[in-house]
Amino acid sequence: MAPGGQFLRGIPVSNRLTWCALAFGGLLVLSGIRGSGIGIGSTPSGAEPQTLRMAAQSHHLLMGTAADAGPLSHKLYASTLQTEYSVLEPETEMKFGLIHPEQTHYDFAGADKLVNFALANGMKVRGHNLLWHNQLPDWIVSPAQPWTPAALNKVLADHIATVVGRYRGKVYAWDVVNEPFNDDGSLRNYVWFDKPGIGFAGQGTRTIEQALRWAHAADPNAKLFVNEYGAETMNAKSNAVYAMAKDFVRRGVPLSGIGLQLHVTPGFDQDGSLNDLSKNLRRLAALGLEVQFTEVDVRQRDGSSFSQAEQANTYKNLLDACLRQPACTLFQTWGFTDKYSWIPESNPGYGWALPFDKNYKKKRAYFAMLAKLNSRGNDGPRPSRSR
Ligand code: XIL
Repeated sequence: MAPGGQFLRGIPVSNRLTWCALAFGGLLVLSGIRGSGIGIGSTPSGAEPQTLRMAAQSHHLLMGTAADAGPLSHKLYASTLQTEYSVLEPETEMKFGLIHPEQTHYDFAGADKLVNFALANGMKVRGHNLLWHNQLPDWIVSPAQPWTPAALNKVLADHIATVVGRYRGKVYAWDVVNEPFNDDGSLRNYVWFDKPGIGFAGQGTRTIEQALRWAHAADPNAKLFVNEYGAETMNAKSNAVYAMAKDFVRRGVPLSGIGLQLHVTPGFDQDGSLNDLSKNLRRLAALGLEVQFTEVDVRQRDGSSFSQAEQANTYKNLLDACLRQPACTLFQTWGFTDKYSWIPESNPGYGWALPFDKNYKKKRAYFAMLAKLNSRGNDGPRPSRSR
């Protein structure tokens, strides 16, 4: 896991919407947008939707991306974001260490910018995240006095109430707990769970349940997710996620769905993983839960046309798996331009992972997804779910 979130930081943030969309005729051509309004407007009758955002609408599917506050001041960054996506998820700015850097001090500046930008552009916001083992502040991981479970319980309760409360009615869904399981299906050992934990050490998923209950109390209308990586296919980790979900649903714990991160390589769809993914989606859907693809990226070793074609196929297949399952309500990538992607830092030797290149040029992956969304094929109608 990369340490930081630093690589997007330090970019000066200036006014969000000082630019005028109409001045960017070239952009309109680039984005294939016709008609008035930038991206949010309707498609001229008879024409196929020309953006991911609009094309996904007819499937009742949300198209999302992670974003950071810094580059919002870059015109192409902001315009691509608002044109192509209906959901924005802060990539770093809502994480504990950034939003609550000192015990008595919250810093909402970056998160507020992203939330305001999204709402001004008719986008939904996904909050990420409330409880995680990474990007924690020093005051949590190296306290002056060791934490007692009671003190830590109060810290987490206050944190969740404060952050969820601030964005009540604005953030439509939260990754309440991020990456709680080990690959073997056991629970991760760390500060919130059992070092010393918030009072439920050794009690399985009780800590997750408590976090969901606190988040629900702070915003009863927000959808609440547990988000995982490596739990996409049928394996020990996804079995553990499923068992937790089943138990929570049975007992009425406020869980709306499971987030599947899907940081993959192109090989992902060549070894039966897609079948397993669909199987996993089916069993989660059978519990009445939503499933969201939350952090899709398809990393590559180079940007050659062979790699781009291979990557486009993987994006298309992942999107297809989501479209075929009505419980899959969101297809979200972890960023959208190779200019800002966590991959080169987290996976040295890899990059080129996203649907737009470093110059915001649409890659084959983009066109493969757009074509998939615009093809009616065997996709069958997806019911409209309340979102
Ligand atoms: C990553 C961000 O992309 C980086 O900018 C940051 O430095 C580290 O975290 N799973 C998650 C995300 O849930 O929060 C991580 O995001 C990527 C893996």
